[in-house]
This record gives sequence, C-alpha cells and structure tokens, in this order.
Amino acid sequence: MSENKKSEKNEKIVSVKGMNDLLPADAALWELLENTVQSILKSYGFQQIRTPIVEATALFARGLGTVSDIVEKEMYSFVDAMNGDHLTLRPEGTAGVVRAVLEHNLTYDSPKRLWYIGPMFRHEKPQRGRYRQFHQIGAEAVGFSGPDIDAELIMLCQRLWDDLGLDKIRLELNSIGNAEERQQHRADLIAYFESHKDVLDADAQRRLYTNPLRILDTKNPAMQEIVNAAPQLLSYLGEESRAHFEGVQKILRHNNIPFTINPRLVRGMDYYNRTVFEWVSDQLGSQGTVCGGGRYDPLIEIFGGKPTPACGFAMGVERLIELMKVSGEPYAPNQCDVYLVHQGEEAQLQSSVLAERLRDAGLDVVLHCATSNGSGSFKSQMKRADASGAAFALIIGEDEIAQSKVVVKAMRAGRADESQNNQTSVPFDSLVEYVVDQIVAGDEHSHDHSHSHGHDHTHH
Ligand code: HAM
Repeated sequence: MSENKKSEKNEKIVSVKGMNDLLPADAALWELLENTVQSILKSYGFQQIRTPIVEATALFARGLGTVSDIVEKEMYSFVDAMNGDHLTLRPEGTAGVVRAVLEHNLTYDSPKRLWYIGPMFRHEKPQRGRYRQFHQIGAEAVGFSGPDIDAELIMLCQRLWDDLGLDKIRLELNSIGNAEERQQHRADLIAYFESHKDVLDADAQRRLYTNPLRILDTKNPAMQEIVNAAPQLLSYLGEESRAHFEGVQKILRHNNIPFTINPRLVRGMDYYNRTVFEWVSDQLGSQGTVCGGGRYDPLIEIFGGKPTPACGFAMGVERLIELMKVSGEPYAPNQCDVYLVHQGEEAQLQSSVLAERLRDAGLDVVLHCATSNGSGSFKSQMKRADASGAAFALIIGEDEIAQSKVVVKAMRAGRADESQNNQTSVPFDSLVEYVVDQIVAGDEHSHDHSHSHGHDHTHH
C-alpha cells in the first residue's frame, strides 16, 4: 500500500511503529517503579532535572561520537522548517543534562547529584524490549572524581532491585581506562584484527578503523574465537586507572554487591572512560540489559567546559516493567477505597457531599456518575462498584436519605462486619470516621501477607 493510500480519509490512524501507549492496566506498575526509584534517589541526595526532548543535533554528534551506532543510524534528526536549525529528538539523557549543567553553571559551588526521567528516541528495529520511543530513568553525578561515587551509583541500583523484589539481575563491570590507554590498545587491536581479516564479518570490517573496540561486542558466533583471544583493554590500564577500578570493586565487595568483571564490556557511546557497568537479566530475551552506565570524565570538556569528572547510569523503564511482570512480587493494580452508589436525586446530591468529605479524609473515592444510558439501576451500579476494586460500596437510596444513614457494604473478603451480610448502616455524621477506621484496619490486616502500596490516611 502506498503512503498516499495509507493516509486516505477513512484509514484508521494508528500509533507510530515502535512507539507505544501506556495503558491503564500497566499504569500502577509504572507508578510503583517511578515512586520507588524517586524515593531511593532522594535518599541518596539526588535532585531532579528536566531538560528538553529536542536538542541541537550537534550536541549528540559531538557528545556521543560520530561513529557511535546511535549517531550513525538511530537518531530522529530533522531540519526545523521555520528556521533551518538542525534538531534531534534526544536518544539518551546524559548529553542534555551535561549541556544544562554547563549552561547554568550548576557545578559552580559544589558537585551535583542529578536524576531525570523521560522518553528517549532511537530509530532501531523494534522487537521485544527495544522500542523507538522508550523511557529512561537516569542519574548523573557531576563533579565527583573518586571511585566512591561510581560505587554509590551501583549500590543505588542494587537497592532498587531489592526493593522491587527483582533478585535475578546481575552486575557486569569493566574499566576502559583513559584515552591514552585506549589509544595504545586500539593500535594493537587493529593490528590483531588485521591479521584475522578473513574471519571478520562486514560489520566488523566497517568498524575496523573507526571503532574497533565495538568489534569486541559482536554477537556473531563465527567471530567469538578471535574476539576472545584479542588483546584486552584491561591489561593496558595504567596505575591510576587500575587504582580507580580497584577502588570501585573494594567498596562493592565491602557492601556485599556481587559482580563479574566483563573485559569485553565497552558500552556504546564515546564519552565513557574508566568504570563502565551494565545490569543484565536473563529473563528478557536478547534485550536483557536493564541499566547501563559508567564514568564519563571527558564529556564536559568536549562540550567546552573546564575539565569536570562525572559518572552516571540510565535504566530502561519498559524493560524493568517487563521484568517486574515476569519475576517481581505480585502487585495489586489500582484500587479505590470507596465506590458510592446512589438512587434518586436527593441521594445523588447527598453522595456528592459525602464523597468530598471522604476525600478530605484522604480516601480514594469513586462517585457513580451518569453515562448516556443514565445513572443506571442499583444492580448495574453495584457491578461498577465491584469492578472498581473498591474495598467498600457506600449505598444511598430513598430509605437512607429518610434516615440520614448510609449502607456500607464490604466488597472484599476479610473486611468489615461479616455477621450482617458484610454490610451495616452508618449515620451520615459518623460515616467518615467509620470508613477510615475500617480501611486502616483492613490495611493492617493485608500488610501481613501482601505487597503494600501504601495507604496514607494520616491527614484526617
Ligand atoms: P544506554 O545503554 O544506551 O545508555 O541506555 C540505557 C538503558 O536504556 C539500556 O540499558 C536499556 O535498558 C534502555 N534502552 C536503550 N535503548 C532502548 C530501546 N531502544 N528500547 C528500550 N529500552 C532501551 C545511555 O543511554 C547512557 N546515557 C547511560 C548513562 C548515563 N551513562 C552515563 N550516564
């Protein structure tokens, strides 16, 4: 079908390939992840930064390196039709954060611990765990030079996996030294691969003189043998780089963070030096890296700032969400506390007042509202109440209005007064207090055996 045909008037418009909607069924899981990360980042003293999704194309070309996969073939770049500016949808967060740090002189008085969350864009071939719009949560520590911050960033991640109940993510660690060390290694590596040119595939041939380190990353089984025997960057490290790397490992060992050293781990951007790391899961198929990062001391100078050390990571939210689905603790999706069912005009009015009072007390309240079919029968409203996941249905009909009372019906097992068919009548005046007590009691009960998603009814 031609592009023209596709855009014909009656053709259904669908989402762009590789760019996904986040639907309500998954929203609770995203929220759980986001809230958990945010509170952990805060507990380590990280502050949020938000940078634009669009940046000058030159920022990424200069920062990530023109021979990186991302800059070579994955960027959504375009010319602004209004003024001819060359712009790009950000493929990652580090370059933009560093630009902002420089532009606003953020490290003027002290080093900064920063974090961000948001969509990134890469024109890759979509598959499980790989999308064209995806989301990252990242942290960048700018102005710190020692191995302590590298280890801190790694330990922060470990804490997150622990809190989310993800116990099968392993840490791979490497050091890629500094520019001179890599230069030496690079020369030897090129010479080595030149002597095995017949075994190199097209991709490797293409990279031989531009980015030979990336050849070590190959997934091609036919090349594994020569790649395994290639000169290892680790053995080119000078004293300072080695001491830094050992410093990171020492702190990790001291804190019982398991890791393996993967001498072939090189990462995809040019800005890295010294420590690099990836967190990998075997439960996600071929796109198992849930988080990657490392030190990038050269980047700020590349952007024209005065030399400033830095280190960071970014995690792929979609991949973590999938991992939470396959291996995390069971998580109860969004539930409200109360669903208000009413019959008759008086009851409807009274319901709206009571709903507001319950919300004042911190409860999550869904008030039944009319659709194009009207307000619906009692039975159909009760069906909605059930589907809402509410702990209680509050029912107000003509009788209740006459007596200034509400029927409180427990919708879930283990709730409320079971002697009276799970329901009881409560006067308007004591309703809020009664429901809050019931919810708090129910929460305490369920905390004993299930994953909590934190009710906070403290401000009534
Ligand atoms: P990265 O390894 O390119 O590093 O991306 C980090 C994470 O984003 C990956 O480990 C993966 O989980 C996720 N990710 C990457 N591409 C996709 C995709 N197409 N679909 C779904 N998820 C994806 C960076 O971006 C660096 N800026 C990290 C960093 C921060 N280094 C230092 N500071």
